[in-house]
Amino acid sequence: MSRYVINGGNRLYGETLIQGSKNSILPILAATVLIKGETVISNCPDISDVDATIRILSYLGCKVTRDGHTVTVDSTTVDKFDIPDDLMREMRSSVVFLGAIIGRTGKACLSTPGGCEIGLRPIDLHLDAIQRFGVNIHEEFAKIDFEVVKPLEGVNISLSFPSVGATENIILTACTAKGTTVITNAAREPEISDLADFLNSCGARISGTGEGTIIIEGVKELHSAQYRVIPDRIVATTYMAAAAMTHGKIHLKSVIPAHLAPVIPVFEEAGCDISISSSSVTLTAPPYLRSIKTIRTMPYPGFPTDMQAQIMAMTTVCHGTSVIIETIFESRYKHVSEMLRFGAKIRVDGRMAVVEGTPDLTGASVIASDLRGGASLVLAGLAAQGTTTVDDIKYILRGYENMSGVLTSLGCDIVKEERNTANGGDRQS
Ligand code: EPZ
Repeated sequence: MSRYVINGGNRLYGETLIQGSKNSILPILAATVLIKGETVISNCPDISDVDATIRILSYLGCKVTRDGHTVTVDSTTVDKFDIPDDLMREMRSSVVFLGAIIGRTGKACLSTPGGCEIGLRPIDLHLDAIQRFGVNIHEEFAKIDFEVVKPLEGVNISLSFPSVGATENIILTACTAKGTTVITNAAREPEISDLADFLNSCGARISGTGEGTIIIEGVKELHSAQYRVIPDRIVATTYMAAAAMTHGKIHLKSVIPAHLAPVIPVFEEAGCDISISSSSVTLTAPPYLRSIKTIRTMPYPGFPTDMQAQIMAMTTVCHGTSVIIETIFESRYKHVSEMLRFGAKIRVDGRMAVVEGTPDLTGASVIASDLRGGASLVLAGLAAQGTTTVDDIKYILRGYENMSGVLTSLGCDIVKEERNTANGGDRQS
């Protein structure tokens, strides 16, 4: 097990490049299953969710090679249509392979992806949509079998909730279906547009992403392509929160400022100065942060649920009381109990958290239990006086490439320790 050891109190100061987007690369790698040939994806982040996705691609018969931030997938041969339970459990977002496997092989067999620390994560919207294409679905003993009994035909699908994953699965199923598919109330996240841009570079005909109604005109088949993934907007705003909490200054290179727009007003309300160019953003923190009246997580272009924990960490050191309302996931406050160990003052009542800011957090020993909650504990450790240890950082490594290296380059005092429990020794890296 590895952990972070942080000595808090340093001002974060400097500039950094932002990694490729986790929530883009995962559906894009899944989409390569649709392509009978070789695709080259660049700006792929070095994170464990990508490792898990590559294991699934290899299991399905794809040949995958990786050279730094470039992944090459040769999907000429795909000779399986199932995802084993252990691989499904390793990463519940593997459900996004569903549409691609069905589109490629005409069938699929998945175990129901379990819930996770932030919620039950049902897939009813995925299943209802896939069924609309005329796919037979049979659920038994936590296994779900899918079979295309007649050629896939385009349909009109209206989502009761703009689910990111369901939108992605519909796009993947519709790409090579006969005729046109129209998705209304589709998710508008930038990662959906990134997936569509990748597929269009492979010959798909997808339009309307980002606007809520997406039109996919089925094509016979898709061809190889080279594609560069967009920067990760959540990683970018996570490091902005770190700079805000440590009264520092950060210059982010290679970002898409428009993707950060839902979060920038929150930093400005806290008193940060933000300057924006075409592909960079600079945040300069004030001597004291002001509290945030209300933060309500919403589907894009609203405030992202994936930034809720990190902004909560920031509000713990703001002057005054802030209110956070989590409307997307039913239990995305698992990080609160650990955050209280820093001396933070937080009350949770259902979907609402009330945070009374305090200028003096104290270092603590805490344990990460999910990706963004774990990141929020690191942020609290950076701002706290004294030493913090964050255990179970495997959750953080799922989505943040070399977080300790990036933060160290920005002046923070953080090391990653490999806890070799066999001999009890700790090795620092
Ligand atoms: C994607 O998850 C992201 N993951 C999540 O990021 C993100 O939090 C989420 O979208 C919302 O923005 C990836 O892209 C890999 P949803 P996804 O389907 O697709 C309910 C991170 O930290 N729902 O939009 O699973 C669901 O329970 C991760 O990077 C149904 O009820 O999210 C949730 O309450 C965490 N039925 C809400 O919709 C369904 O069939 C949003 O889910 C599907 C979803």
